[in-house]
Amino acid sequence: MSQALIQASAPARVNIIGEHTDYNGGLVLPTNTAIFTRVTASPRDDRVLRVRSSTIGDTQSFSLDDLCPGETTSWIEYVKGVAAGLQQAGIALHGAELLIDSDIPLGAGLSSSASLELSVAKALLAISGESIADAALAQLCQQAEHNYAGVQCGIMDQYSLTCAQFGNALLLDCRSLHTQQVQLPTDIALILTDSGVRHSLTDGEYNNRAEECATAVALLAELVPSLGSLRDLNLEVLEANKAALNETLYRRCRHVITEIRRVQDTYEALGNNDLQKVGSLLNACHESLRDDYAVSCTELDALVECANSSDLILGSRMVGAGFGGCVLSVCRKDDAVAAAADIQMSYAAISGSRPWQHRVEPAHPARVENE
Ligand code: GLA
Repeated sequence: MSQALIQASAPARVNIIGEHTDYNGGLVLPTNTAIFTRVTASPRDDRVLRVRSSTIGDTQSFSLDDLCPGETTSWIEYVKGVAAGLQQAGIALHGAELLIDSDIPLGAGLSSSASLELSVAKALLAISGESIADAALAQLCQQAEHNYAGVQCGIMDQYSLTCAQFGNALLLDCRSLHTQQVQLPTDIALILTDSGVRHSLTDGEYNNRAEECATAVALLAELVPSLGSLRDLNLEVLEANKAALNETLYRRCRHVITEIRRVQDTYEALGNNDLQKVGSLLNACHESLRDDYAVSCTELDALVECANSSDLILGSRMVGAGFGGCVLSVCRKDDAVAAAADIQMSYAAISGSRPWQHRVEPAHPARVENE
């Protein structure tokens, strides 16, 4: 066991495009930004994890010997889920004191949960003198969220936080788990503005969407036997078999199909340094999330409108799971300061207070700081 104080961190994930495609075997294009969950860990000589979150203002303890999901979905479930997953993977964990701090706004569409999972996982591994390959660690943390937090999330967040290298976006194929590092144009600026509205993924809407997609696949597979996931569907086949679905399921499928296409188009537009095109793809993504996938809300729609009313903004969309949280806007680097001020002013005028803003900055993936 390492006796030293361990410090681990994981950034926030900013999904450029590819929303609600990951659990449908689709494509996503996230990057990370330099706001972090930080974990300071020191070893204990028993089998207890005592965890203090200064962000939540709460301390909880549990034994590594009798781990099982709790009745409620408190923040500690994410930590328990990670510890349980590591032990199931054959890692001999040691008891520890963990102090968690974060400057990632919670529930704002920036994967604060995955960032907590990965920073805790890195700290626990380091303090126990063990390691796991990043891709396997990402999957283990996803399972922690499924089994302990009750959220049937996809793999995007955990992969982004482990595999997107400093300053890059990650083109991830969520079916094959093939990854490609994508350099962002030097001229691009990405601005996040918080709507101030909060979602909780544990409140069921997220799992509902995943279930709707699974239902659509089951219904369509009776007519199109080769269909394994919505990734295998295209608009022609969807239209031809529309009668098998109700309007809601049809729209969910249409979002997933068009969104996967938008990921490919955004990847190309980034490669061509065509920021105008990236902006219009972000706008189209927002419309699809609002109208077909129904995961936006009044405040997010208003914030997108405020952002796009600035001449300097090339496009905007809600980011993450939805039902609140942040809007992501794209502009040219030289315009970033003025564009951010434009958004702040127009949203403050309708919401009554200055929203939290953050300019996306290169970040290292989840790591142990003092290894
Ligand atoms: C959350 C989930 C991800 C993904 C997004 C929506 O962040 O954790 O897996 O599904 O929502 O794209």
